[in-house]
Amino acid sequence: MKIFITRIIPDRGLVLVKEHYPTCDIWSADMPPSREELLQRVRGVDGLLCLLTEKIDAELMDAAGPQLKVISSMSVGVDHIDVAAATARGIPIGNTPGVLTDATADMAFALLFASARRVVEGEKYVRDGKWETWNPKLLLGADFVGATLGIVGFGRIGQAVAKRAQGFDMRVIYYDPTAQPAFDAQPADLETLLRESDFVSIHVPLTEKTRRMVNAEFLAQMKSNSILVNTSRGGVVDQAALYDALKAKKIFAAALDVTDPEPLPTDNPLLELENCLIVPHLGSASQHTRDMMSLLAAENLIAGLKGERLPNCVNPEVYK
Ligand code: GLV
Repeated sequence: MKIFITRIIPDRGLVLVKEHYPTCDIWSADMPPSREELLQRVRGVDGLLCLLTEKIDAELMDAAGPQLKVISSMSVGVDHIDVAAATARGIPIGNTPGVLTDATADMAFALLFASARRVVEGEKYVRDGKWETWNPKLLLGADFVGATLGIVGFGRIGQAVAKRAQGFDMRVIYYDPTAQPAFDAQPADLETLLRESDFVSIHVPLTEKTRRMVNAEFLAQMKSNSILVNTSRGGVVDQAALYDALKAKKIFAAALDVTDPEPLPTDNPLLELENCLIVPHLGSASQHTRDMMSLLAAENLIAGLKGERLPNCVNPEVYK
């Protein structure tokens, strides 16, 4: 079997793949392969294990060839993969749901706290030598107890965020036409959610429906003291509209774990704003979570190569 793995993934998964397929080809650089390199290296492979940094489209699947049996991504999101093209070719796609739910919800809360209580601004203030006395009005932020948290997208991660919010005595509402209430969170239409929420946390996958969903109109409906947190995908937010809203103080702050593009160019105007906190796509970045993601990705790959059903398959219709 010919296999290409697009980066050195954590040992938990890598060791398992190597046990089964000692001759697998692994891209060993820190930076992802370029498009040309990727198209070249996938030629003739039976299995591909990729990350969210690789664009896996019809051209790439055809470059690999008709023997391609499985595409396994070490991510829960699959917006970098043309799922319809894979399904049309009968290729199952594996992803890694579940194991990163808690870590990502933790990150949403870390951003919520850091933004509401101005942790990064405070840290910079100290380093810049500006801390001269205890000041009753210095860097005042927002409270959690009694505040309303609006969760947009109430899947696994959105619900894990709601569960955490209970511990802070927050009122939680969510917008997700397909989800059932859980963890004391109540459903709301989007307009109500934006009008009533002090914090808005985004947990929808990136699809054609959700692309740029957080646009000027969305932001205009948010409260002027509210904070936007995004740990889903950068493409869900219209960043130019967000810049305008933050600059004009139409909302209090934003905290982003994801941007479009990634990495965010250092001259992006969002980086000029003190009320915008940005971290480099760290939602699932805990040791254990990444170990488990690599294991699930390896298990999907191996199952696909053996012609077995993937333990976590995005397009199960290929089995019909
Ligand atoms: C991370 O963003 C993932 O989709 O796993």
